[in-house]
Amino acid sequence: MTGVKGVQMKKEDLKRLLEDMSLEEKIGQLVQLPGFLIEGGSVITGPALEMGFDEETLYNAGATLSIFSFEQIKEIQDQFMARQPHHIPLLFMGDIINGYRSVYPIPLGQGCSFDPELVKELSAMSAKESSAEGLHVTFSPMVDLVRDARWGRVMESTGEDTYLNSCFARAAVEGYQGKDIADAGNVAACVKHFAAYGAPEAGRDYNTVELSERTLMDDYMPAYQAAVDAGVEMVMTSFNTLNRIPATGNSDYMRTLLRDTWGFHGMLISDWAAVNELELQGIANDMAESADLAIHAGVDMDMCTPVYASSLKKLVADGKVSETLIDESCMRVLELKNKLGLFEDPYHHAEQADPKEVLLCNEHRQLCLKAAEESIVLLKNKRDILPLAKEGLNIAFIGPYAEAHRLYGVWSMLGREEDTVSVKEGVEMIAQGNTCTFAKGCRMLDPKYPLCGFRGMEKEEETDDEELLLDAMMKAKRADVVVMLLGEHPAQSGEGGSRGDIRIPKPQRKLLKEIAKVNSNIVTVLFHGRPLDIRGVDRRSKAVLAAWFPGIEGGNAVARILFGESDPSGRLAMSFPYSVGQVPVHYDHFATGRPFNGDISNRFQSRYQDIPNEPLYPFGHGLTYTTFDYTSVELSDDVMTKEKPVTVLARIKNIGNREGTEVVQMYIRDLKGSVTRPVKKLKGFERVTLKPGEEKTVRFRIDRDMLAFTGADMKFSAEPGEFYVYVGASSACDRHVSFTLKD
Ligand code: NOJ
Repeated sequence: MTGVKGVQMKKEDLKRLLEDMSLEEKIGQLVQLPGFLIEGGSVITGPALEMGFDEETLYNAGATLSIFSFEQIKEIQDQFMARQPHHIPLLFMGDIINGYRSVYPIPLGQGCSFDPELVKELSAMSAKESSAEGLHVTFSPMVDLVRDARWGRVMESTGEDTYLNSCFARAAVEGYQGKDIADAGNVAACVKHFAAYGAPEAGRDYNTVELSERTLMDDYMPAYQAAVDAGVEMVMTSFNTLNRIPATGNSDYMRTLLRDTWGFHGMLISDWAAVNELELQGIANDMAESADLAIHAGVDMDMCTPVYASSLKKLVADGKVSETLIDESCMRVLELKNKLGLFEDPYHHAEQADPKEVLLCNEHRQLCLKAAEESIVLLKNKRDILPLAKEGLNIAFIGPYAEAHRLYGVWSMLGREEDTVSVKEGVEMIAQGNTCTFAKGCRMLDPKYPLCGFRGMEKEEETDDEELLLDAMMKAKRADVVVMLLGEHPAQSGEGGSRGDIRIPKPQRKLLKEIAKVNSNIVTVLFHGRPLDIRGVDRRSKAVLAAWFPGIEGGNAVARILFGESDPSGRLAMSFPYSVGQVPVHYDHFATGRPFNGDISNRFQSRYQDIPNEPLYPFGHGLTYTTFDYTSVELSDDVMTKEKPVTVLARIKNIGNREGTEVVQMYIRDLKGSVTRPVKKLKGFERVTLKPGEEKTVRFRIDRDMLAFTGADMKFSAEPGEFYVYVGASSACDRHVSFTLKD
C-alpha cells in the first residue's frame, strides 16, 4: 500500500476490519446513495424506501454523490459515521468534468489544444478546488472514443483519435491524483465509461454498440488502458450493450481484460442505475438476477439503485453469490478509502482548507484563460480578415452569445454565470479604440424545440423577435465588420443530448441569413458541444472560429483571439462533417477496394452522389495568423528492425510575420497487413511556437510497438512491410516518406 506513513491503515488492519463486519455492512459498502436522498445529514427515508432501499442498508452505504459543499459533506460524514457500526467513512463523489468553480473548456475543446500537459494542470486545479470543498472522487476522465457528432456526449470526450485520447487520459489521471491521493489537493479519478459508450448506434444516447473485436481493441480500448496504466483508482461501467452483452454485465471485459490482462486493482462502479437496467436490456428477469450478473461480472458498487442493497443478502443466503465475492468488492471500497486516508481524516484535509483562497483565485483564472485560448480553432480566415484591428473600426457583435454568460456546457455543476466573462466584457477590455455595438439579434432556440431536463436551463426569456432583428440589422449595416456569436444551446449537447440535425438552431440561421444581406464582412464565432454542420455558416462567413464551450474565461479568450492578442492554436480533435449524412466520419478510415478518384462519371466508386466524402474540416485542422512551412521531412533510416527504431525529422519554419504555434502532427500508414489497415493513424504530435523567420526541427521516434495492431490471428503485433510516415498540419496532409519494417 502506498501513501503517507501513519495516515493509512495496514493491509492486516483492513482485513481485520472486514472480518469484523456483518454481511449487511459489507453489502452496504457496495451501495452508492444518491445525494438527493440526504438532507441535513440524514436520509430522507420516505423517498429512499419508495425507491426500494431498505432502512437497514441506508446508513451502511459506502458512498454518495453530487454534494458540493464542505459544510454539507461534513454534516453527512459525521452523522453517517456515527451510525455506521464500524464508523466507516463515506466516499463523496461527483462529476467534476471541466473544472469545479474555475470552469475551463469542455473536454472536446481541451482535446483541440493537443496539449496533454495543460490538461494535467487543469485536472490538478480541478482536484485542488473540489477537494477543498470535501470531494474525494471525480467521475472523470471520460475517454470514450467518438466519431458521431449526433451523440450529445462527444463534448465530454477528447475526440476521435485513439492516440490523442490516450495521451489525454493519462494526463488527466496524473493531474487529478497527483503523486499520492492521500495528499491534500488530490482526488481519485474515475475513468469512464467502460466500454465503448462513445459508439452508440445512430448517435442516439444509451443505444446499442456493435463493434468488431479488432475495432474495439485497436481503437476504443487503448484510452481506458492508458488511464489504468497511469494508476486510475476507479473505473465506471457504461450503459450500452457491447456486441449484445451489456457492459455492466460483461465479465470478459471487466474481469478478464481489465483486471487480469491490464492489471487494474481499483474499484469498479456501475453507471447510474446501469445494474438495474440489465433487466430492461433483456439479460435478467428481475433485480436479483441483475445483481447476480453484475457482481459476478465484476461491478463493486451499484450507483444509485437499491439492486445490490435489496438482493445481495438473499443471493448469498441462497448460495448463488459467495460471501468471498462480496468480501473482495468490499475490500476494494475499503482500500480506496484507506488510500485516501479517510480512516484517519474522513474529510480528506478539507477541514484545513480554505476554499475562498483556492476557488477562482487569480492563478486559476489565468489557467482557464490559457486553456480557452488553446482550445479555440480557427477553421477559416478568408483574406486574412482576422485578426481585427484594435482601433478605427466599427464592429457589430451580433447573436445570442454576444452578451451571454453561460459559456460552460452542461456538465459544469458549479459553473456560475456571474463568474463568467462574456464576449462583450472581453471585447470591451481590449478594443476600446473601436466603436463596438452589441445586439442579441434573435433568441437562442426556436421556442418549439423540445428541450427538457438539466435544471431549468431550457427556459428562455420571452423576446420580441422582430425588434431584436431590426436592432441587429441596423447595427450590422453601419459596421465595417460583423462578428456573429452563434451556437448551440448548452443543453443541446451533453447526456441525453443526441440530435438528428446538427446545424445551429433555426432562429440563428435566419438571423445570419438576414445579416449577410446587409454586410458581407462576417466573422462567426461558434459556441457548441459538438462538431456542427456549418455549411450555411461557412458560406456566409469570411472567418469561422470554433470556440466550443470555453468556460469562465471564454469571453476574454475569444476577444483576445479576435483582436490578435493571442494566436489561435487549437486543432480539431474531431472532424466537422460536411453534413450529418456522413457521420460517423473519422480520418482513420479503412482503404476500400474502390476508392473515389474524383472521377464523377464513374458511378461505381466509394462515394456519395450528393455530398463529398471528406468532412468539411478534418481532424487536426486549424489555422493560425502566421504561415508555417515544412521545409523538409526525413527519416533517420529507411529500414526498421526489432533492435533499431527509426526517427522522423521535420524541419518547420515560420515564414509569416507574426509569432505563432503550429501543432506538428505525425501519421503512419501501414501499406499492407494481414487485415486491412487504416489510411492513416496519428502516432505523434508536438506544439511548436516560433517567431517570424524562426525554424525548428521536430523529432518523432517510431518504434515497432507503435505499428502493432490486431492481425488476422487476433494477436496484437506489428507485421513486416512498408510504412508511410506523414508529417504535416492536419490529417489531410499527404506529403510522406517511407520505411520498411524487417523481421
Ligand atoms: C450518468 C453519467 O453517464 C455518468 O457519466 C455520470 O458520471 C453519472 N451519471 C453520475 O452523475
